[in-house]
Order: sequence, then structure tokens, then C-alpha cells
Amino acid sequence: MREGEGRHAARAHRVRRGTGTLYRKLQSLKFLLTRDRRAVLSFLTRDLGVPMSTAERLALLARFTRITNEIRGYHTLVEILTVTEALLERAGRGPLLLVECGTGSGSSTAKLSLAARHAGARLIAFDSFTGIPENDELHHFEDGRELRFAKGAFKGSLSAVEKRIARFGAPERVRLVKGLFHETLPGFAEPIDVALLDVDLASSTRSCLVHLFPRLRPDGVLFSQDGHIRETHEMIADEAFWREEVGVAPPEVHRRGDGKLLELRPR
Ligand SMILES: C[S@@+](CC[C@H](N)C(=O)[O-])C[C@H]1O[C@@H](n2cnc3c(N)ncnc32)[C@H](O)[C@@H]1O
Repeated sequence: MREGEGRHAARAHRVRRGTGTLYRKLQSLKFLLTRDRRAVLSFLTRDLGVPMSTAERLALLARFTRITNEIRGYHTLVEILTVTEALLERAGRGPLLLVECGTGSGSSTAKLSLAARHAGARLIAFDSFTGIPENDELHHFEDGRELRFAKGAFKGSLSAVEKRIARFGAPERVRLVKGLFHETLPGFAEPIDVALLDVDLASSTRSCLVHLFPRLRPDGVLFSQDGHIRETHEMIADEAFWREEVGVAPPEVHRRGDGKLLELRPR
């Protein structure tokens, strides 16, 4: 074997793992049958606010799985089903609003748009659409390891996300709002039923909580997918932050899914 041939052979046999590959489809199937099995069974059998047959629930799960296979995402099926169920449980009571902050490449947004279609809800999704903003923030995992979020990480451009929602989701349900949260959220004044934050930076979580939490309806719920970050927990546990910056009583907090998803309810 000549020099370099071994390397070429190894490259040729390397398994492709990106979006759209067979590897990714098999991984989704494996998770459906193992890690996500309980959440899937619960979704198939639980009472929801709107009639939804088993066939419709299976079809929604199939579409979620297709999106997972085709668009890079940063959530688990358990997490997205938790938010989907929170929305569907509130369906049928009048106008329903779901807000998402942090769309990334559009995987979570496309799935939530389908959930919104079933629930008769609207989805408003906020993002810079240029990825994580410039920052010098140092974060930590809960076990103390350091974690930084680089400028531009998780970028999905507005046009790319729009196209993916049009292809895989329910575009008629969605409004995308481009800009930094501290610029786009202050003008937002609608009552929110369900919100999902996946924004990584503590400063971003702060902006979202300050501007969105007071907009939650009394029976509304806000989820944060940043429960793996120590600084997020410190903020949420800080009574003075809630009373002085957000202007509400500290919320009821629960861990959901595998623990990374936090559920916050107004008191
Ligand atoms: C981890 S990604 C979201 C992933 C997506 N929810 C998913 O599961 O596929 C985090 C997103 O937050 C956005 N983001 C973070 N801080 C922001 C800020 N201050 N203003 C606007 N967007 C922000 C980034 O642009 C990025 O798209």
C-alpha cells in the first residue's frame, strides 16, 4: 500500500453521520425505542385539550423524527414533546400563543410550528439569525466545568430557517422576529400561554425572563432548555432578580425530561 492509501481507505469507510444520512435515521429509531420510549408512550395515550387520534399522534411523531433527521437540532424528543404537550393541553380555550427564543437551524421551530397547527396556536420565534452574539461570558456546567459560547455558534440565517419551516413545518403558524433579544423583546406585549427558551448565554436568558415572564398568562408555563448551565440556575434561584428586575414573585420551578429542561410557572 502506498503512502496515503491507508488514509484514503479509512476516509472511504468513515460513516457519514450528518443530517439526511442513514446513520442519523438509525440513531433516531434507536432513541425512539430506548431513551424516548416512555415519553412517546405517554404522548400517545394522554388526554389533550383537543381530540387527536392515535394515528394523528403517530403522524406528528413521524414528522418530528423526519425533522430531526433532516435539520440539525439541539434538543431531545422528550424535551420537544414536553413543550408540545403543554401547548396541546391548553388547546380549545381560545387564542393560544407559543413563543420560542433561540431557533438555531430551525429544527425546534419547525416541530413547534406543527404542534401549533394541531393546537390552533400561533408561534412567534425570536432569534438574531446570526448565531450567538459577541460576548465575554464564562459559564459553567453544573459540575463546575467551564463552558463558553462562541460568537456565531448555532447560526441559522433567517432565509434558511424560513425555507426549512416551509418544507418541514407549518409556516402559516409562524412569525420569525430577527434581532437581539434585548432589542426585539421589550416591544412585545401579547399574553403568552407557553414559552421555550434555548439561548445559552446567561445574559440572553436574563433578557428573555425579564421581558417574557410577566407576559405569561396565570396558567401559562415557560420552559428553559438551559438547565445544564449553573448560571441559569443561579439566576432562577435569585429572589431579588425576580422581584426587582422581572417584577413578579419567584416562580415555581421543576426539572423536566432528562433534567436539562426547566419548567417555570407563575405563582
Ligand atoms: C442552541 S441554539 C437554539 C437551538 C434550537 N432551539 C434547537 O433546538 O434546534 C441558541 C440560539 O439562541 C440564539 N441567541 C442566543 N442569544 C441571543 C440573543 N441575545 N439575541 C438573539 N438570539 C440569541 C442564537 O442565535 C441561537 O440560534
